[in-house]
Amino acid sequence: MLTLPQDAILSAIALLNAGEVVAFPTETVYGLGADASNPDAVAKIFALKSRPRNHPLIVHLADAECIEQWAREIPDEAWELAREFWPGPLTLILKRSTRVLDAVTGGQDSIGLRVPAHPVALALLHGFGGGVAAPSANRFGAVSPTAAEHVRAEFGDLLPMILDGGLCSVGVESTILDLSPGTPALLRPGGVTKEALERVLKLAVPLKQSGVRAPGQMASHYAPRAEVILTTRAEAAEREAALRAAGKKVARLGELIDEHDMRAYARRLYAALRAADTQGADVLLATLPDERGLGLAIADRLRKAAGPRGRMTSAG
Ligand code: TXA
Ligand code: MG
Repeated sequence: MLTLPQDAILSAIALLNAGEVVAFPTETVYGLGADASNPDAVAKIFALKSRPRNHPLIVHLADAECIEQWAREIPDEAWELAREFWPGPLTLILKRSTRVLDAVTGGQDSIGLRVPAHPVALALLHGFGGGVAAPSANRFGAVSPTAAEHVRAEFGDLLPMILDGGLCSVGVESTILDLSPGTPALLRPGGVTKEALERVLKLAVPLKQSGVRAPGQMASHYAPRAEVILTTRAEAAEREAALRAAGKKVARLGELIDEHDMRAYARRLYAALRAADTQGADVLLATLPDERGLGLAIADRLRKAAGPRGRMTSAG
């Protein structure tokens, strides 16, 4: 059991009220949080991350009732999903209310909302009272942090505070479900599985390329420094031998992680990508899991990590 760092949470609340950015833990990954009602505070997030300004942020809330302050024309499905999965790794995209800042939504008419399932995040959100806009606490395009030390390594003294809540229990980002146009669509697979959503919604949820993009800006996402190469299990040994013969230092994801336990795989994925860099690997060889359950989110992140560098994607 984690004992709540009460003093640190109070300091974090004071910093949020003062318009500062604070890193905090969630069950998925660490976030870089700021007061979602303060445009100057929100601007600091974009500057820290080097994130394109038209790339919208998720607003984190203390409980489901708060969504009425941030969204309009809320469909019944949203309440049903909130009841089932919040607090938890699900972000709902809804039509935004008029009070929402353009800086948060990148000028779109929709907003992403979520109630995270981490005791420290919930204590922070309850104490603060308002919405906390937060992207993952990594530089744009880099691997998301699942431990406080990952955030420290990336931002160091640039942040007034990093709330330490231990290792993230889910390890991949929240599932993003778009409820704004009517028919639900999955924009990003994540901690809540597609199957679980479909069970509650009683309909098939198509996976949709998000229309939200940062034109021409970006390299592959969730990417370590090492080149990530996807291979089949059958070909892995041969691939590795060829790379070694070519003088490359090769790491195998399967040696850094248990690839058979999907929960452990998701939890450890980003730490393993970082470990490949720490080991000085030139190449990280990975095989895609079955794309069921959490395997869908894991495969999505591995594909993006292996994607061509210097190209845009829609992740953040
Ligand atoms: O698990 C998570 O969701 C973490 C933790 C910190 O909550 N946050 C996170 O935020 O992953 P970020 O900014 O790294 O990724 C959020 C994604 C982005 O790809 C963004 O484009 C999308 O959510 N998004 C946010 N608001 C949106 C909107 N109104 N419409 C479509 N996509 C949206
Ligand atoms: Mg991100």
